[in-house]
Amino acid sequence: MNKIAVFTSGGDAPGMNAAVRAVVRKSIFHGLKIYGIKRGFHGLINQEIIPMQLGSVADTIHRGGTILLTARSPDFLTTEGQSKAIAFLQEQEIDGLVVIGGDGSFRGARVLHEAGIATVGVPGTIDNDVAFTDYSIGFDTAINTVIDAINKLRDTATSHERIYVIEVMGRSSGHIALMAGLAGGAESIIVPEAPFDLTEVCNRLQRGVDRGKLHSIILVAEGAGSAMHVGGEIKRILQLEVRVTILGHLQRGGTPSAFDRILASRLGAKAVDLLLEGQSGVMVGFYKGEIKATSFDDVFSQAQAFIWDDYKLAAILAI
Ligand code: F6P
Repeated sequence: MNKIAVFTSGGDAPGMNAAVRAVVRKSIFHGLKIYGIKRGFHGLINQEIIPMQLGSVADTIHRGGTILLTARSPDFLTTEGQSKAIAFLQEQEIDGLVVIGGDGSFRGARVLHEAGIATVGVPGTIDNDVAFTDYSIGFDTAINTVIDAINKLRDTATSHERIYVIEVMGRSSGHIALMAGLAGGAESIIVPEAPFDLTEVCNRLQRGVDRGKLHSIILVAEGAGSAMHVGGEIKRILQLEVRVTILGHLQRGGTPSAFDRILASRLGAKAVDLLLEGQSGVMVGFYKGEIKATSFDDVFSQAQAFIWDDYKLAAILAI
């Protein structure tokens, strides 16, 4: 192993820079040459490669987004795009690749692994929807962003005695909604993993109003439906004042939390170790308290576990 390349792919996530920094510095520590590919798989096809030095990642650990830029690459879904990317990596004599991204990025990474390029994945997505890692880089920061928004919305919700329906990201998963809802004291959490009963949501809201609650917060995961729809229905059924806030892409930005920086530093560094050990076709995750490598095949074989105990607990605590 002499030359390693790293790139970020898919939706950006706070902490990706800390992961890139760890890959770059750990590689240099081991005397390896390290390169950055810009714009993920798109950049691989378009040959966007830059040498990275210690200073390339200076002053980045606290920055959100990704200094390597990112993209979603429809071209890499084609065999032509894949062949171009593989040929480019071979021409450049890249011996090992670190791919920082989510499930979709790892499916691309597996193609490269199967073509004989040693490839290790590092989970970076706010959605936390990748199996075999309890946390993906960016999730902690994103839920803290949601909590910050809930705190602010609570102030105005209380003053006006309103119900707030807040839509959060997560693609087809409800992990952001669940954890932000538990930490933010939401009255109801609507997620794709659980059946959604609007009557129960309304009954709960009405009970709150009857005992003098000044406001209520409902969290809706984007994968479970539209907050506009839920808000409209609650207003129609209860005849109470309702406002809807869609948090959108602001959940993807901001300085990474300490947790995400630490996670990213550990996983990025471990990815380099795994390549040096000769591993490929694996994702390095933080699973059941340990930094652990799991094959892409196993990662794709199951969905991230939904924490039903927390879902039930959130409902009990919001009684
Ligand atoms: O996967 C991260 C994520 O932010 C999802 O939560 C969301 O559904 C999606 O990306 C949005 O993608 P885009 O940035 O392409 O609008």
